[in-house]
Amino acid sequence: MGFKPTKKINDVLARDRKVILTTTRGDFPFIASHGDGDYVYDIEGNRFIDFSSFIAVYNFGVNGTKQVRSAVKAQVDRLMHSAFTDYYAEEPVEFAENLLKMFPKSFGKVFFSNSGTEANEAAIKFSKIFTKRPYVMGFYNSFHGRTYGSLSLTSSKTVQREHYGPFTAAVHAPYAYCYRCPFGKEYPSCGMECVDYIKNYTLKKDVSAKEVSAIFMEPIQGEGGYIVPPKEFVKEIRKIASDNGILLVSDEVQAGYMRTGKFLAMSNFDVEADMYTMAKAIGGGLPMGVTIVKSSLGDLPEGAHSNTFGGNLVSIAAADALLKYVKKNIPSIEDQAQSKGKLVMSRFEAMQSKCEIIGDVRGIGFMVGIELVKDRKTKEPAVKERDEIITECFNAGLILLPAGESTIRIIPPITISHKNLEDGLAILESAIISAARKLGK
Ligand SMILES: Cc1ncc(COP(=O)(O)O)c(C=O)c1O
Repeated sequence: MGFKPTKKINDVLARDRKVILTTTRGDFPFIASHGDGDYVYDIEGNRFIDFSSFIAVYNFGVNGTKQVRSAVKAQVDRLMHSAFTDYYAEEPVEFAENLLKMFPKSFGKVFFSNSGTEANEAAIKFSKIFTKRPYVMGFYNSFHGRTYGSLSLTSSKTVQREHYGPFTAAVHAPYAYCYRCPFGKEYPSCGMECVDYIKNYTLKKDVSAKEVSAIFMEPIQGEGGYIVPPKEFVKEIRKIASDNGILLVSDEVQAGYMRTGKFLAMSNFDVEADMYTMAKAIGGGLPMGVTIVKSSLGDLPEGAHSNTFGGNLVSIAAADALLKYVKKNIPSIEDQAQSKGKLVMSRFEAMQSKCEIIGDVRGIGFMVGIELVKDRKTKEPAVKERDEIITECFNAGLILLPAGESTIRIIPPITISHKNLEDGLAILESAIISAARKLGK
């Protein structure tokens, strides 16, 4: 396509820089205008294939499904906000009932909020109140959000934490990032040294296991670099939690909602958590956070936690319409996530043997990360090259997102057509080859 910023684009960028306080924009000047299905268009009418689902939100196509859009329009004309936390409304109750059917029978209560970080804030507070223990434990490389409680757990990049401490009572433990094992070992000959470390150091020397209310875990680390742990690791963490009366919270904000081919990413590890948090995709394009709690944990004291917009009727209408769509199409969605994910993995695995810059290819379902390195032996992260690849892809009509230090995330809408998936992969492969050539690899 050959993208060229026009005067109109440059003008909006200049106005944005003047009045918008933000810190996380990418390197390329994408100004969204409209979109549908696999495509999004900028304000000049340039068309892009979406390989990002707009940060794991549009799991079933850009701008939600047509069912979501009609439900939202209808609800807007009835009532938008019902102060659901203070008064009653039927729609959020019905949605909670429908949502709980996607969970094991032992899950019986839902708390509504507006974002992933808020869903995790609620889970932190609920864990503390249920167990009467002060600490939470998270993992290095994790991302749980940017408000204070969640940020205390987040440990993906120091820039996200710098100047904000001291944080609430949280400890961090090594995650099984096997490509860059913190102990310099290889799986499975490592004998799960990271698990031993958690038992012997984190929960013995940093903090007493008796004081830890919950372990927060992304079943696949997202922002931290699309890191897939061995099944054994996740099972061991479940065991540590159960053995010590600690709750396990699965943060499904990015990996959940069918992205891995299963409704809950944790199910890929045959592990059941005690609480689940979801956001992003669940709202079908509107803001929503959800914290789902095991019935056996009991209830909360009157007034212990609340908000204004949780259960907002428009978000609920979108989420309910999306959930109905998912339930109706579940075999096809599972199949698409698996088969398309497999296609992507096999393409980059095949490329890896010829292209030194591809250090690691990993993923489950349609959540795939490609970690780029300057050198296979030293594993020096190819940070600049990764960023250049993403920009080059944008210039050729493909929207992507980075993750971790030098990983590219591939998370197109699960419903993407094979033609657009192939076209997007061709753009990405050619950008990777040209970056490798520049590096002489
Ligand atoms: C796993 C995970 N948890 C929590 C969050 C925070 O979600 P939000 O940005 O909606 O607050 C994110 C956002 O990227 C995430 O990926």
